[in-house]
Amino acid sequence: MSSVLTIRGGVPLTGRVTVRGAKNLVPKAMVAALLGNEPSVLRNVPEIKDVEVVTSLLQLHGVTVEKDPHTGDLTLDPTNAKTASHTAIDAHAGDSRIPILLCGPLIHAIGEAFIPDLGGCKIGDRPIDYHLDVLRQFGAVVEKRPGGIHISAPGGLKGAKISLPYPSVGATEQVLLSATRAEGITELSGAATEPEIVDLIAVLQKMGAIISVQTDRTIRIEGVPDLGGYNHRALSDRNESASWASAALVTRGDIFVEGATQRDMMTFLNTYRKVGGGMEIGDDGIRFYHKGGKLNPLVLETDVHPGFMTDWQQPLIVALTQAEGVSIVHETVYENRFGFTDALIRMGANIQVHRECLGSVPCRFGQRNFLHSAVISGPAQLTGTDIDVPDLRGGFSHLIAALAAYGTSRVTGIDIINRGYERFTEKLAGLGADFDITSAE
Ligand code: EPU
Repeated sequence: MSSVLTIRGGVPLTGRVTVRGAKNLVPKAMVAALLGNEPSVLRNVPEIKDVEVVTSLLQLHGVTVEKDPHTGDLTLDPTNAKTASHTAIDAHAGDSRIPILLCGPLIHAIGEAFIPDLGGCKIGDRPIDYHLDVLRQFGAVVEKRPGGIHISAPGGLKGAKISLPYPSVGATEQVLLSATRAEGITELSGAATEPEIVDLIAVLQKMGAIISVQTDRTIRIEGVPDLGGYNHRALSDRNESASWASAALVTRGDIFVEGATQRDMMTFLNTYRKVGGGMEIGDDGIRFYHKGGKLNPLVLETDVHPGFMTDWQQPLIVALTQAEGVSIVHETVYENRFGFTDALIRMGANIQVHRECLGSVPCRFGQRNFLHSAVISGPAQLTGTDIDVPDLRGGFSHLIAALAAYGTSRVTGIDIINRGYERFTEKLAGLGADFDITSAE
């Protein structure tokens, strides 16, 4: 049964939250375990829906997944991997985008893969053409079947020279997971180099892979016939950390985010400082706080790493509604990531979205029909309203807007937030938020 949050706004969030392993690494490290010929151990695993989905998918394919009841560490044993029934896999259709990354490892383990139609946040079309092109270049045969896609490689996967049209995170991971055990050398140009990708490379290297990352977005992989297991502590979730940082700013609060890592968040920290947010960077986390004065507007462009991450944009825009003056945010990664601003406008925010590229560099969405630039004028008094959560980061943004707003908000669809924010209602309660949870009728 779905839940409803009734939020009484106006309370500054203060206290401490702990952020664990990254949602955008952990499920992929779990998939990598399928490539080994012995068990792997993954530590710092958050309790989020995406981990549950991948656990079920791996179990359907004969992988044993055991969770340590005290630490939450996962032991993944792929030694009895097998073909899963299509009906069972189909039950996961629409749950997540991670299943597409099972292709390479499944072909290596059992010779074929069936991938259900994919879910994930509705923040654009989110096609999988790069993934399928990459698999074909490794020699795979891709067939559309009812409810999903069947992929096989009668002659095995072969190393290839691949160039991505855009540095896609998922397509880069597809190449890594397929190439490590492919025959021969793979050279990928135009690769994404997000910290989560570097952590996945670290996992694969522990398993025995030979992968080098060059400075020009080229990754070179020398295929090896077999891989072993790994023991790895997942890097921390920098997107969740940035979300709590924005929550502190929006609610005029003070939050110590245990697990936030400076190295992976440098671009965010520079922006946070320019907006006027306070921070104290420690060894075990970062304290984020509102300094009490005015917030500054800014001009911002999202980009692939090392640029300002698209996933940081949505919560930060709520803070920009409180800055003194006009801010411009140009979204260059997803064509449709400003739908969440409708609810903010209903709450009193002053935001216009435009089709033009309002950033310094024209992006691939310019001159097309995508509302991908936002102009935010502040400060605006936000007032509570009824909200239905649209997507993961947009939903978190609505929550923090409601927590800062005058009056009461009723938020439905909060289960989407469980996909990527571990125990978020417990964390909100610990920070002093004033809310109730009830079951939807
Ligand atoms: N794209 C294509 N074709 C493809 C794949 C991607 O056109 O086959 C396009 C996308 O539509 C998008 C762009 O390329 O416009 C970038 O997509 P990318 O492949 O980099 O994204 P992803 O791998 O699907 C991951 C994260 C996202 C994060 C992006 C960008 C996971 C599970 N998801 O998605 O996280 O926004 O990289 O960094 O790792 C989130 O955490 O809220 C989230 C959406």
